[in-house]
Amino acid sequence: MPPKLFLAILAGAAVAVVLVSSRPKAVDEVALQAEAAVLTKDFGASLLGILKGALETSGPEGAVDFCNKEAPTIAEGASKRSGWKIARTSLKPRNPASAPDEFERAVMTEFVARIAAGEPAVSLKRAEIVEHDGQRSFRYVQAIPTAELCLTCHGSELKPAVAAKIKQLYPADQATGFRAGDMRGIFTLRREL
Ligand code: HEC
Repeated sequence: MPPKLFLAILAGAAVAVVLVSSRPKAVDEVALQAEAAVLTKDFGASLLGILKGALETSGPEGAVDFCNKEAPTIAEGASKRSGWKIARTSLKPRNPASAPDEFERAVMTEFVARIAAGEPAVSLKRAEIVEHDGQRSFRYVQAIPTAELCLTCHGSELKPAVAAKIKQLYPADQATGFRAGDMRGIFTLRREL
């Protein structure tokens, strides 16, 4: 190979290296979405498991206490183990600490419109890279449909003792008046990139 050509190739390679390294880190979005979907499934199953167990052993009032203590603990544990931030949120939160951020609010507003247009809540999800204040994160959101079971504590006609317990623990509760099939909220997962 003539030396000039060799040098030109070298220079070209150097430019390519600079271009590649100055680009944001390559992200395997498909793998991240798959991982988030599995984590969501596990998280949802744990919550449903403790909810059903608590309803059986302590009745709905006792189960309110249980959700109050255990739901945040389960979310924290799942987050610590996985390196993701795993949580639930809602446009009508019960726990004010679970209020949505801008991204979550926008996605939920869109989901509500799609459900009103006939899509089933259970099919709705979204995965996206979001940049906020210079920090990029991978975000995964999945709708949580309201089932019959949920109406005991999130429906329109709560037993007075259940309503009183909720009022006592969550004076600012907004999470009643749902019907089966409504979107109760979303699972929301986030991983910094
Ligand atoms: C025994 C009462 C009870 C039942 C039944 C119940 N929940 Fe809840 N739910 C709660 C309580 C209490 C909280 C607040 C937990 C906390 O402090 O984080 C809550 C919080 C939530 C949240 C988090 C956002 C928010 O509003 O704070 C979602 C989402 C949710 N529930 C969905 C459901 C779904 C879906 C079902 C049915 C599968 C269900 N719940 C059944 C009591 C209940």
